[in-house]
Amino acid sequence: MLLQVRGLCKRFGGVQAVRDLDLDVGEREIFGLLGPNGSGKTTVFNLVAGVLPADAGEIRFRGVLLNALPPHRRAALGVARTFQLVRSLARMTVTDNVAVGRLYGTSPARSVDGARREAAQLLDLVGLADKAGLPAGSLNLAERRRLEVARALATRPRLLLLDEPFAGLNADEVEAEVRLFHRLREEGLTLILVEHNVPAVRALCDRVAFLNSGEKIAEGRPDDVLSHPRVVEVYLGRPGG
Ligand SMILES: Nc1ncnc2c1ncn2[C@@H]1O[C@H](COP(=O)(O)OP(=O)(O)OP(=O)(O)O)[C@@H](O)[C@H]1O
Ligand SMILES: [Mg+2]
Repeated sequence: MLLQVRGLCKRFGGVQAVRDLDLDVGEREIFGLLGPNGSGKTTVFNLVAGVLPADAGEIRFRGVLLNALPPHRRAALGVARTFQLVRSLARMTVTDNVAVGRLYGTSPARSVDGARREAAQLLDLVGLADKAGLPAGSLNLAERRRLEVARALATRPRLLLLDEPFAGLNADEVEAEVRLFHRLREEGLTLILVEHNVPAVRALCDRVAFLNSGEKIAEGRPDDVLSHPRVVEVYLGRPGG
């Protein structure tokens, strides 16, 4: 297993955000983390990336226990993530946003010029080559999300954590992202994505886990999980859902 999580727990004051969670994600898998708002999905990413310490449980990546490692050490082992809210550096060029990422991670570039050359290749991969010289702040939402992916890829990860990569995108843009993520898997990456977009999850994920109040209530193939009685109940029963 690339990622192995056992008995993971995280509490914020009176809220048990993640409850005794087990997860196994294999090499080159595309795994979906589903659940209603506040069910703990982003918290799981924060625990895996090392932004937050776990209260209990173990997180292993390629067999290495991550719990005590700070985020940059986890990045160096091959864990990268994108954020639910896009965080590019608005005044820097698109290229330099990615080049900055190339200076960290598993095998950093040796020079800024080298980092820029590799950034250009990554921009080509994510379909942003024609925006390379523009300030990141001039990109639209779909382009900024692609920039986030390129920045994460710049650390040469083995595992990419994507938090709501399709939020706010139109159907054509979602389709293009789905193609990009399939391509990344072909290149050898493992993806875990948090998503509410059910058609995209069906098109993309090999397996999914469904969280409710921090607890995994179903896991398996997307079709099976999305038709699971408890999942249907949670999705239909939520306010406004
Ligand atoms: N840093 C924090 N401090 C305090 N409470 C937090 C913190 N992060 C998350 N929580 C709480 O933990 C619970 C899980 O939040 P989390 O952001 O993981 O949910 P989510 O499944 O990602 O939701 P959404 O779909 O809305 O993004 C929520 O009740 C949230 O308010
Ligand atoms: Mg979230």
